[in-house]
Amino acid sequence: MSDKNDRDNNTREGYSFGYKEGMLDYQSYRALKTLGFVLSYLKPNMTVLECGSGHGVATFEIAKKLSTGTVVGIDIHKDLVDANNKKAQESNIENITFEEANLLELPYPDNSFDLVYMQAVLVHIGNPANALREANRVLKSSGLILVREPIMDRAIFSPENPLFQESFDLIERTIKSYGGDPSVGRKLWTLLDEAGFRDTLMSSSWEQPDTLDEWPCFMRAGSRPWKGTLLRSYLETAGPMKNILLKYLKPG
Ligand SMILES: C[S@@+](CC[C@H](N)C(=O)[O-])C[C@H]1O[C@@H](n2cnc3c(N)ncnc32)[C@H](O)[C@@H]1O
Repeated sequence: MSDKNDRDNNTREGYSFGYKEGMLDYQSYRALKTLGFVLSYLKPNMTVLECGSGHGVATFEIAKKLSTGTVVGIDIHKDLVDANNKKAQESNIENITFEEANLLELPYPDNSFDLVYMQAVLVHIGNPANALREANRVLKSSGLILVREPIMDRAIFSPENPLFQESFDLIERTIKSYGGDPSVGRKLWTLLDEAGFRDTLMSSSWEQPDTLDEWPCFMRAGSRPWKGTLLRSYLETAGPMKNILLKYLKPG
């Protein structure tokens, strides 16, 4: 994605981190890691809606698993929608469609889908309650919603470092400045209840690189606010993290 597709083209309703390659790579990596959660709920002939499908990695995997069902991925970012539709066409995948749409005003009639999935989307939306109500409207009465959202104010850093904390705070402030809630995950149960969902089940997991192979992608996305003096000062105090960081960051 070019710079033009990044923040400049984004709206306050949009996505605060923008659409640069490092960020999309990270999201794709995370989507693959968390995919088991979604795939385990798929059943033959299901109609599935993924909201905020972004890079489309999860949507394509859902389509693959759902050989006798269909999946629609919606996103407000037209370039991603177009790129995903092109990829689907080139790969002759017929049970998948991507549409440019706003989660707050879904262009579907009531009772359209068996399953709605979203990950890391409500965090960027000012009124998650309305988004969940809208998801409930398009779900069939027997339908299922799967939602995965962050609780950033419970992040753990070790070794503790004020500069690292500051860069993380910056990420949280960016989300807030776009009207989002970086810790919307802790409110999910209440939000889902208010949106009319019943029989809710909650679980939690950590987002972290689990193997050395996963570090480059994680760092390219996570280190975006770290530039120039901040990065140099951080490296001076990073302790055992310094070597691993130097592999992926350019202090300049
Ligand atoms: C952090 S990305 C998550 C992408 C993907 N779900 C994942 O798990 O990696 C958030 C996505 O939600 C989209 N988005 C933000 N606000 C939206 C809205 N109101 N309606 C539809 N999509 C939205 C953004 O364009 C972006 O692609």
